[in-house]
Amino acid sequence: MIKSSVLTVSFMTMAASLLLAGTSLAEDEYDVKLYGPKSSIEWNKPIKATFDHKTHTMDAGLECNSCHDDLFSMQRGTAVSSHKFTMKAMAEGQFCGSCHDGDTAFATDTNCMACHGVAEDPMIWDEPTKAAFSHTSHVEDMGLECSSCHTGTFAMKKGAATANKDFTMASFKEGKYCGSCHNGDDAFDSASQCESCHFPPAEKIVFTQPVKSVVFDHDIHVTRESLSCESCHKEVFAMKKGTVEGQELILSDDPAEKRKYLENLHNKYCGTCHDSSQAFGYLTRCTVCHIGVKGFDKMSGGNKKNDAHGKSKH
Ligand code: HEC
Ligand code: HEC
Ligand code: HEC
Ligand code: HEC
Ligand code: HEC
Ligand code: HEC
Ligand code: HEC
Ligand code: HEC
Ligand code: HEC
Repeated sequence: MIKSSVLTVSFMTMAASLLLAGTSLAEDEYDVKLYGPKSSIEWNKPIKATFDHKTHTMDAGLECNSCHDDLFSMQRGTAVSSHKFTMKAMAEGQFCGSCHDGDTAFATDTNCMACHGVAEDPMIWDEPTKAAFSHTSHVEDMGLECSSCHTGTFAMKKGAATANKDFTMASFKEGKYCGSCHNGDDAFDSASQCESCHFPPAEKIVFTQPVKSVVFDHDIHVTRESLSCESCHKEVFAMKKGTVEGQELILSDDPAEKRKYLENLHNKYCGTCHDSSQAFGYLTRCTVCHIGVKGFDKMSGGNKKNDAHGKSKH
């Protein structure tokens, strides 16, 4: 009994001292005087890059004077303010390039990600539509070089393409931006598989013009019915809310004319599928779509009151 409790105690003491050693080691591990500032130095102009003292002093064994003050001043931001802190200067052996020359350390024309890690992956654009791009999958999985995009195709700055105003599907089709590869040859065509890059809206779309409350649910069509985005967004609908609502409304009071118009209107949009064969017909079940307005079924008969409603633009 006594023996075993002594054993337990000594075991516990050992564990405690190990734990203590662990913490004190972690604290002693980094000596700012010996190794320089602990937190990494980050630049954001003109693009994001980071420098870690620890990897250079503690890990690579460099002395302060191998950089200070000949290559860099001990004042964050000085190099950037010189306006000479560029890849070109580095390639000529200045700044980081005095060591990162492929000899002392990896060269600056390689391994761009090591110094310019991309914070946001995947990157998401919210305007004008929601779309995503993953550096990791393009660089690591597909083995592309930074230069295959960052010389001409894209600036190394999020939002730069958007600011150009021609960051559109039409430009991609002409071989610009994503379309320089997503052309059906080098990578899948940007005019196909929209769902690889785009997100469907999570909320239901409620049409309010010219009549109220036709409700369209992406979830039902995309998830439950497994329809591709293209089945609607290539020809039937623009991927932008309000396009259908923006269509010209008929002004005729002639019931026959109005009837024909309504059929055309429905046929052109939802009716391309809701034709009683691919999906329930628009002529038979008005209220499945027009959920917000009572008496729509009667409308198809040309009821006076409802005809007037159909014409109104509220
Ligand atoms: C491999 C190069 C290199 C080495 C070695 C190095 N530094 Fe630095 N240090 C830098 C760079 C780069 C900067 C940022 C300069 C700039 O932004 O212009 C910097 C900045 C600093 C700053 C300013 C930080 C701030 O927030 O303003 C201090 C302090 C500093 N270094 C201390 C040290 C000390 C102490 C050592 C040695 C233990 C050391 N450095 C070794 C490259 C180095
Ligand atoms: C050893 C680190 C390092 C490597 C490797 C590196 N860069 Fe840089 N780069 C920097 C630093 C530091 C700056 C200046 C500060 C800033 O703009 O963030 C910079 C600036 C830039 C700039 C803006 C200034 C200019 O020269 O136009 C671009 C663009 C750039 N790098 C692209 C690249 C590309 C592409 C690669 C790979 C082929 C690469 N960098 C590799 C550290 C590096
Ligand atoms: C005095 C020489 C020297 C200078 C100047 C220098 N480096 Fe380094 N750097 C090294 C060495 C040595 C290594 C380790 C060997 C290697 O990775 O090739 C290294 C490694 C690195 C690494 C890889 C760290 C890791 O996690 O493995 C990065 C990132 C880096 N340097 C960025 C920079 C940036 C950014 C600058 C300029 C602001 C810079 N270095 C300036 C010598 C230098
Ligand atoms: C397949 C194309 C492609 C490749 C390859 C690529 N990028 Fe990018 N990168 C982009 C796009 C697109 C943007 C966003 C540009 C925009 O919004 O205008 C971007 C933006 C960036 C940004 C700015 C991020 C920000 O938040 O502002 C950095 C940094 C960057 N890339 C670094 C790299 C590095 C380093 C490599 C190589 C390791 C690389 N990129 C390879 C397409 C690419
Ligand atoms: C390779 C990726 C990719 C594919 C595939 C893709 N897009 Fe895009 N799309 C984008 C990017 C990136 C933007 C610009 C940024 C944004 O709008 O968020 C964009 C923008 C758009 C826009 C707004 C700008 C414009 O051109 O009017 C629409 C609408 C659009 N896409 C529809 C589609 C449709 C429909 C499909 C399928 C037929 C599709 N996209 C396939 C990446 C893609
Ligand atoms: C330098 C060529 C190149 C450019 C530019 C490029 N891609 Fe790609 N992308 C590829 C290749 C290669 C593949 C893999 C082959 C395939 O899937 O057809 C790919 C695959 C993808 C995939 C599927 C894999 C994944 O990441 O989930 C998406 C999504 C994608 N790209 C989006 C984009 C977007 C968005 C843009 C523009 C912002 C873009 N790409 C620009 C070459 C490129
Ligand atoms: C069954 C048809 C259908 C399918 C399939 C479909 N959509 Fe839509 N989508 C619509 C309709 C209808 C609208 C609204 C058009 C309008 O108001 O003119 C719309 C609008 C949008 C909008 C604009 C939303 C806004 O608030 O501006 C986006 C983005 C969108 N769809 C993305 C997608 C994506 C991504 C897919 C595939 C994953 C997809 N859609 C599949 C019918 C469809
Ligand atoms: C690309 C074909 C296609 C288009 C275009 C389309 N739908 Fe559908 N929709 C379907 C299919 C398939 C179903 C499921 C079969 C069925 O219910 O008959 C469905 C089902 C529905 C349902 C029933 C949902 C439930 O609860 O079961 C509603 C409501 C609906 N669609 C509304 C619309 C509206 C509004 C539009 C036009 C804005 C539209 N759909 C455009 C294919 C389509
Ligand atoms: C598959 C879905 C769907 C079905 C079924 C449907 N509609 Fe519609 N209808 C729409 C959409 C979408 C609009 C245009 C947006 C809006 O006005 O809310 C619309 C618009 C209308 C309009 C306004 C047109 C204008 O320009 O004045 C009338 C009237 C109308 N529908 C009557 C009917 C009648 C009657 C039925 C049944 C015979 C019917 N709808 C069945 C989807 C549907």
